[in-house]
Amino acid sequence: MRCRRCRAPSVIELRRHNAAFCRPCFLIHCRDQVARTIEEHHMVEPGERVLVAVSGGKDSLALWDILLDLGYPADGLYLGLGIGDYSDESGRYARDYASSRGARLVEVDLPTDVGFDIPGGAAAARRVPCSACGLSKRHLFNRAAVEGGYPVVATGHNLDDEAAVLLGNVLRWSTDYLGRQTPVLPGGDGFARKIKPLIRLGERETAAYCVLTGIDYVVEECPMAVGNKHLGYKAALNAIEDASPGSKAAFYLGFLQRGLAHFAPEAAADRQSLSPCASCGSPTTGDVCAFCRLTEAATRPPQGAKPAPRRRTAPPR
Ligand code: AMP
Ligand code: FES
Ligand code: ZN
Repeated sequence: MRCRRCRAPSVIELRRHNAAFCRPCFLIHCRDQVARTIEEHHMVEPGERVLVAVSGGKDSLALWDILLDLGYPADGLYLGLGIGDYSDESGRYARDYASSRGARLVEVDLPTDVGFDIPGGAAAARRVPCSACGLSKRHLFNRAAVEGGYPVVATGHNLDDEAAVLLGNVLRWSTDYLGRQTPVLPGGDGFARKIKPLIRLGERETAAYCVLTGIDYVVEECPMAVGNKHLGYKAALNAIEDASPGSKAAFYLGFLQRGLAHFAPEAAADRQSLSPCASCGSPTTGDVCAFCRLTEAATRPPQGAKPAPRRRTAPPR
């Protein structure tokens, strides 16, 4: 097949776009999709510094690369989760990429800076690892942004991720989550703005972007995610997409255009009821935020043991 833009031999076919692209035109296509998303959703104001949450995986490394190429002042943030070899390896890919581009990578390490790792902390707090992990990420991404003076945090959630989350939310009619499933969560009052500039690219596209630009990324999935419901939703959506290309984008982008507004007032009302956490000052609906409660449970010494010296949470390096 020939490239849709320049008629050269193509290297990738995108059935959803009913198109094929050669290498240079595919990279332009990826940048255009991100630039269009940022513009359409007013994600970044001129001059704003962006903190890109970089996991060492294909999506967030591709995102960081594209933002730098588009000229955004974008630094990376790597959060060490203490998930054995997986975390060691992920951190290495994030650091290697940063040094290859001469870009700044902020690092926060959950075990050394906060005092627990995801497997141990989740067990101590009797939480599912992915839930303890998601909560920690949200809290620590925001804290690193606020402390570092970044008004915006960008994550590498892609079209496949967002469509799978949407399917899960619709299956349960979780109206509060549906109201918050926007590609931009506004900032203010202790919150940095959260943006997802990759919602128009699927994971096949971000993987191809990395391969074609020579970006090395961690290929293994997180070992704690095995059996995770979202993997099942992704598989179901992939089967639908195979039979009917474009369904995933129609489902998720259609929701943004025609569904989200119905649920947004509920999410806005939730944000109104926030006050500072008594322990860390982050915005929360209760007295003490969920992350401080998790930290308390995860670092509490076992009954009968001598209390460990209390660690202070260090600011991101
Ligand atoms: P996940 O929640 O693993 O699907 O990751 C979604 C997005 O969160 C990634 O694309 C990254 O932007 C960000 N992210 C996940 N894990 C980390 C991490 N350990 N450090 C920094 N950012 C992360
Ligand atoms: Fe969070 Fe796996 S990356 S539990
Ligand atoms: Zn707190």
